[in-house]
Amino acid sequence: MTKEYQSEQELIFEMGLKIDKCICSNITFSELRKIAISNNADDINKLQEIVDVAKNCRLCVPYLKEMLKTGETEFHKLITEQE
Ligand code: FES
Repeated sequence: MTKEYQSEQELIFEMGLKIDKCICSNITFSELRKIAISNNADDINKLQEIVDVAKNCRLCVPYLKEMLKTGETEFHKLITEQE
């Protein structure tokens, strides 16, 4: 039986996509959130002054921005800079 998906996001979630760290720096968003809170870093530039993160491929940047805005540390959807 074939399942039909209503959206790309639903399909991605079903596939088990989990984005929870800057892969290049090997630091989880959960760790980065704690660092951001304890240092009052409320934007990506301030966070980068404290920790060496998001300085290579930068694919994590939109997730870090969302993390700083909402507190979420695990994502099951694709987020791009345009969003
Ligand atoms: S995943 Fe964060 S810089 Fe590449």
